[in-house]
Amino acid sequence: MSLLMTEVAVAAARLAEAGVESPRADAELMAAHRHGVRRSQLNLVADADFDPRYWDDVARREAREPLQHITGAAFFRYLELQVGPGVFVPRPETEVMTGWAIERLAKMDVAEPVVVDLGTGSGAIALAIAQEVPRALVHAVEGDPLALEWAERNIVRCTDAAPHIAGRVTLHAGDFRFALRALEGAADLVISNPPYIPVGADVPPEVSEYEPAAALYSGADGLDAIRSVEQAARRLLRPGGVVAVEHGAPQGPGVYWVFAEECGWAQTRNHADLAGLDRFVTAVWP
Ligand SMILES: C[S@@+](CC[C@H](N)C(=O)[O-])C[C@H]1O[C@@H](n2cnc3c(N)ncnc32)[C@H](O)[C@@H]1O
Repeated sequence: MSLLMTEVAVAAARLAEAGVESPRADAELMAAHRHGVRRSQLNLVADADFDPRYWDDVARREAREPLQHITGAAFFRYLELQVGPGVFVPRPETEVMTGWAIERLAKMDVAEPVVVDLGTGSGAIALAIAQEVPRALVHAVEGDPLALEWAERNIVRCTDAAPHIAGRVTLHAGDFRFALRALEGAADLVISNPPYIPVGADVPPEVSEYEPAAALYSGADGLDAIRSVEQAARRLLRPGGVVAVEHGAPQGPGVYWVFAEECGWAQTRNHADLAGLDRFVTAVWP
């Protein structure tokens, strides 16, 4: 076995001991990042090329710093995004909701559908939609100045990699409860992955110690920001426009009633993530 693969095995054991959820994968991904190779090429790294700074990376992960902060990259659908302190790391479950929105937009008989992403963070949802629905015009709103910097950086990087995105994603600084007055009644689709963890809930150290509180917590039942998204969506959507909102697995019934027929919404549906858990709600503004 090569020196690197031996060190990876030791690192994986240390990460498992520290309570990391996917120790072997994380040990390999950090080794690949540190040595500038793909994960499938790790066994090709010569012993002489082993970089001892790998152990600094392992120590950070052992302290439960998110893997994506250590490698600096998060993968979201077909994008590689930069992330780090001050911004929420995009999650696989959000890819599922974004995929639903992309399919819905593809079927819309609108020349340039107007999309609004409320609480864009790294820009993940907005950029994925712009990349995969090239005729969409995407407005991304973010209230946290640090997250805004990451979104700006990702818009520039992704536009360099996929020039058809150029001019299709507009970033707006501000509170999504009041943002985008000029677009009222004009949006074809509003999408959001807002903060939805109930204040005081137990979360892993990667989340509680490294991710911004404004991206996580939202009132006693975790639904405050979702209620704000509902208000913003009814203000922004055109008749027939659709909304998609992510939520925590146990919140499905609660979020369903935020978008209930009694509140004016139609076709409200719960959707599951890849693990089969209730993860996002969609509804139509009639
Ligand atoms: C859970 S993170 C999601 C980020 C990104 N959309 C994603 O899925 O990776 C929620 C984001 O919403 C932002 N946010 C929360 N409340 C907001 C508000 N009232 N106005 C604007 N942004 C807000 C937070 O700063 C954070 O970046």
